Amino acid sequence: MKHFTGISDLGPAGLQAVLAQAAAWKGTHPKHLVDRLLGMVFFNPSLRTRASFEAVMARGGGGAIVLEVGNGVWKLEDRLGAVMDGDRAEHVKEAVPVLARYVDALAVRTFAANVDDDADHADPVMNAFRSLSTVPVVSMESAREHPCQGLADLLTVQETFGKTKGLPVTLTWAPHIKPLPKAVPNSFLLTAAAAGCEVRVAHPKGFELHPSVLAEAKAYAAATGGKLIFTNDQDAALEGSAAVYAKAWGPSTAAGLGADAVTQHPGWLTSRRHLELADKEAIFLHCLPVRRNVEVADAVLDHSSCRVVDEAENRFHVQRAILDWLLNPATLLHFDAKALSLLS
Ligand code: CP
Repeated sequence: MKHFTGISDLGPAGLQAVLAQAAAWKGTHPKHLVDRLLGMVFFNPSLRTRASFEAVMARGGGGAIVLEVGNGVWKLEDRLGAVMDGDRAEHVKEAVPVLARYVDALAVRTFAANVDDDADHADPVMNAFRSLSTVPVVSMESAREHPCQGLADLLTVQETFGKTKGLPVTLTWAPHIKPLPKAVPNSFLLTAAAAGCEVRVAHPKGFELHPSVLAEAKAYAAATGGKLIFTNDQDAALEGSAAVYAKAWGPSTAAGLGADAVTQHPGWLTSRRHLELADKEAIFLHCLPVRRNVEVADAVLDHSSCRVVDEAENRFHVQRAILDWLLNPATLLHFDAKALSLLS
């Protein structure tokens, strides 16, 4: 059973195949999902993810069912052995196999609890869906990764520069009004490393990404000739960078710094001064939604180098390629992700 809940489901070679497929289909609307039904389960809100997956299914000739957990749908319990005497009326042990009887693939969005980094990185809800489903599962963001976002980010980089290998790209931490999950920064790091970039990650002390993510990124970089740099010096990380990716995320340990830690570094808000440290042809990226003038200045988001809308469009293109790979073994993406994964 194929799933796509993390970049490790593709590996570096599979990543290249998906990006190539996504790029090749741009400007076309193949009917590659006729009679296919996607069940979309949201534990958290969305704009781009929901719209782009629904668009992929409709444009491809298929359909989607959208379920918002807790909003007209039973709240779901995922803890093994739970005494279900609270507000979670149904266990994933029943809900997932039932849903899998109705649809051809399940797409799931669940966020980090942001209480314990180790628990979040175990990705309990996504992994429950993965183990209980009898149809492919695709992540629409989980506690650990947002792999479709990472693919869209790298497609945007690749189509701007015509390459990813050796390209210096900087992920720079941003302030926020509250601690955010680390799935997006994790996925940018992992996907850029798997694409062979020189990935620079800049953040204040106390905002380190999880060791399991760093280890996975290092394995990709070793396999692809990529390079990883982690620093607390934002200006040094931005120097000469081809892509500047701003993202807010919470402290390494929620208890360690306190919730107000995310507001304590206003100088990390990405401004024009930061962009001017990067290469003069540099592009600006952000997964969206973005809080203007908290995370990123208007002058950056309104500048011609800002590619956030192209990046969001690319969600559609990469997800089309992913769903094709999951649902259509006979079409173009004839790669065996496990065999091609340089980690396996
Ligand atoms: N980038 C992203 O996943 O956007 P949404 O949360 O709006 O889906």
